[in-house]
Order: sequence, then structure tokens, then C-alpha cells
Amino acid sequence: MPADAVVSLRSAGVTFSSGPPWDRESLDAVGTVDLDIHRGETVGLVGESGSGKTTLGRVCLGMQPPSRGAVLIDGAPFDGHRGRLRGRLQIVGQHPEWALNPRLRVGTSVAEPMAIMGIGTRAEHRKRVGVMLEMVGLEASLAGRFPHQLSGGQRQRVAIARSLITDPSFVVFDEVVSALDMSVQAQILNLIKDIQAAQGFAALFISHDLAAVRYVAHRVAVMLDGDILEIAPSERFYGRPAHPYSRQLQAAIT
Ligand SMILES: Nc1ncnc2c1ncn2[C@@H]1O[C@H](COP(=O)(O)OP(=O)(O)OP(=O)(O)O)[C@@H](O)[C@H]1O
Ligand SMILES: [Mg+2]
Repeated sequence: MPADAVVSLRSAGVTFSSGPPWDRESLDAVGTVDLDIHRGETVGLVGESGSGKTTLGRVCLGMQPPSRGAVLIDGAPFDGHRGRLRGRLQIVGQHPEWALNPRLRVGTSVAEPMAIMGIGTRAEHRKRVGVMLEMVGLEASLAGRFPHQLSGGQRQRVAIARSLITDPSFVVFDEVVSALDMSVQAQILNLIKDIQAAQGFAALFISHDLAAVRYVAHRVAVMLDGDILEIAPSERFYGRPAHPYSRQLQAAIT
């Protein structure tokens, strides 16, 4: 294993069971996945709806225990005690409104991960919130507003600021631009790309949108029915994908 893998999956898989006990159904949402995501790297994860992308992201974060295989963080087995790692592993989702409490001022929500971890004084929180809001292209004064007083794009920026305030070493972006209109999508993608380059965290960028993935990802992984069919550097993936399914996916958007 390369020394700088932040997150590693070793034959990791997830089986969900559903239905009543007399008619149990099980589904391998994630089959058997091996994956290393390195410091400073963004891995794009594409695949059709239901192929297991979000479940795989949750496994990487320790939010979903694998049914088999192992998750390593910095090369050490991740035992699922999220508290110890809290703040180091973060997620940004499609709906920033779910990450932001509607009754809290934006500044309080952005500072929350620091407060939960018990880092810093209130004055330090306020200062760092200002720095983070400016980093995501917002004015520090927005800290005093409530989420409903922001646009969708601004809310997504706030959610990104909140996720990055503890300086995480790994971030999952799950369909972060899907709910935004095209011009705002481009701004948010630029932002993610710039911040990732500056901060050097490892990232998993999940999206249906192959063009968005092409823009931000260093490598691209293609998922189908719970398994990774192909993983390749972006230039190669977009130049000549190896797997027929990858070619099919690309043909579908051009
Ligand atoms: N908690 C759960 N319990 C049972 N089945 C689940 C659970 N979470 C996900 N699944 C199933 O696992 C499969 C993979 O779901 P997942 O959300 O990972 O897909 P996805 O690739 O992220 O899809 P989308 O692109 O629509 O977000 C789906 O068939 C889904 O119904
Ligand atoms: Mg999903």
C-alpha cells in the first residue's frame, strides 16, 4: 500500500437485508471493493442510480459498517469509533439544508464541528468561521443570517465551509451539484477543485455527471451493481475507457 493512502478499502462489501423474517431479501449494495484514496487526490465515483455509490462513500467514512472486508484509515484498521476520528472525515451531500439547522444562524452551524470536538473558544470559532466563509467565496457577514435567507448555491458553500472547518483529511462529496443550476454548478466545482488543491485532503467525488467528475477528479471509478468495474486516471478514462460499460456510460452523454 502506498504510504499516503488516507482511506483504503480491502475487499469491503455491504449486504442489506430487508423484508419480514419469513421472506428475507438480501442485497449486495457493495460487492467486493478494493480502493485506495491518497492524500491530495480526488477520486470520482460514477455509476447509475442504485449502483452503490453512496453506500460505498458511507463505508469509507465509517458511517456504514462493512458486512465483509476492512476499512483502513491512514493504514490502520478503522474500528468504527467515529468519535475518535470525528472531524477528520467529513461529508458534503446533495441537500445542504439537511446539514444546516434552520433555526441556527449560519455561523453557529459552520462552527458546530469545532464545538462538538471541543476545539477553540467562542471568539476563535467566530474568527475561523469568517475565514472559512471567505474561503468558500462568501462574505463573513453572512454568518449572522439564517439558512432560509441564503440562495441554494450559498447554502451549499456554507455546507462546504462547515465540513472543512476541522481541516479533515478525507471528504466525501455526494452529488453536491445535482440540485443546483448550471452556472452555480460550475462555481461550486471550481471552488471544490481549488480548495482541494490548496488543502490537500483526499476526496471521493460521487456524481451522475461525468462532465463534473472529469473537471474535479484525478482518477475515476465506475460502479455497477455494487462493484467497481474500472478505475483509471481521468485522462485515460475520458480518452479511452477500458471497460465496455464505461464506454457505454460516456456514449450516453455525448
Ligand atoms: N439502509 C439501506 N437498507 C437497505 N437497502 C439500502 C440501504 N441503503 C441503500 N440501499 C440499497 O442499496 C443499493 C445502493 O444504494 P446507494 O444509495 O448506495 O446507490 P447510489 O449509487 O448512491 O444511487 P443514487 O445515484 O440514486 O444516489 C440500492 O439498491 C438501495 O436501494
Ligand atoms: Mg447516492
